[in-house]
Amino acid sequence: MNTTIHNMEQHVSVRDFKDQALSSDTKQQLLRAAQSGSSSNFVQAFSIIEVSDKEIKNEIADITNSAAYVKKTGVFYVFVADLYRQSIMLQNAGKSLKGIENMEALTVATVDATIAGEDMAVAAESMDLGICYIGGVRNDVARIAELLNLPKYTFPVFGMTIGIPNHKNQVKPRMPLENQVSVNKYDVHKFADIEGYDKQIEEYYANRDSNAQAANWTSKNVNFFEEVRRPEVGEFLKRQGFALK
Ligand SMILES: Cc1cc2nc3c(=O)[nH]c(=O)nc-3n(C[C@H](O)[C@H](O)[C@H](O)COP(=O)(O)O)c2cc1C
Repeated sequence: MNTTIHNMEQHVSVRDFKDQALSSDTKQQLLRAAQSGSSSNFVQAFSIIEVSDKEIKNEIADITNSAAYVKKTGVFYVFVADLYRQSIMLQNAGKSLKGIENMEALTVATVDATIAGEDMAVAAESMDLGICYIGGVRNDVARIAELLNLPKYTFPVFGMTIGIPNHKNQVKPRMPLENQVSVNKYDVHKFADIEGYDKQIEEYYANRDSNAQAANWTSKNVNFFEEVRRPEVGEFLKRQGFALK
């Protein structure tokens, strides 16, 4: 196994960092790595905002419910799905904005932002830094947009906190490949037959060295999805100019 794949398989989210800012050279390397990913039709429909202002960071930390590792970290970025540039180009060309308002365009921008995030994550972990995605920015997506001065046709998809790890959790076992990979056709039986995986995850949660608990993958998912989460995200996206259709 090569070093890249080895590092990827060692991934864990880090939620305990040394209180040490990353150097501007390190940040430049991370940002360049994030820019290097594929981009649908090369539209590069994302932006990255570093949050360094203490007041803004503290408010974002509170919004995300991840204060400890958003405040005490090396750097905190927000990844924004971004079609604002394209809206200006179209307006200047006297064209309709319908092409950036539909669900397909929002998907393109969200995927572009996500690819950038994961490329940055892989780069950071190759430098022995730790990362944690912070979807908690969508807990109050409108306030995040206000704090970061986000214009129409943008959407803060997630934050990412990156720093020197103080503590790392054990790697969480992923589901067996046969539950997630098939050839030619979706396998409705194998993909949903996760009894074996439930046992594995139950053991993982019972025996891990921090936050041990009695749970399996099914119970986690049922708890998560029995609630409609962040219903206001849809309304926010509409106000941002997206048609959601
Ligand atoms: C888009 C996204 C948003 C996430 N948001 C949060 C978050 O707000 N707070 C947090 O502590 N972890 C967050 N996570 C981390 C996940 O909980 C974590 O990746 C998952 O439990 C698997 O654990 P691992 O990354 O250690 O393998 C997020 C992950 C992703 C991909």
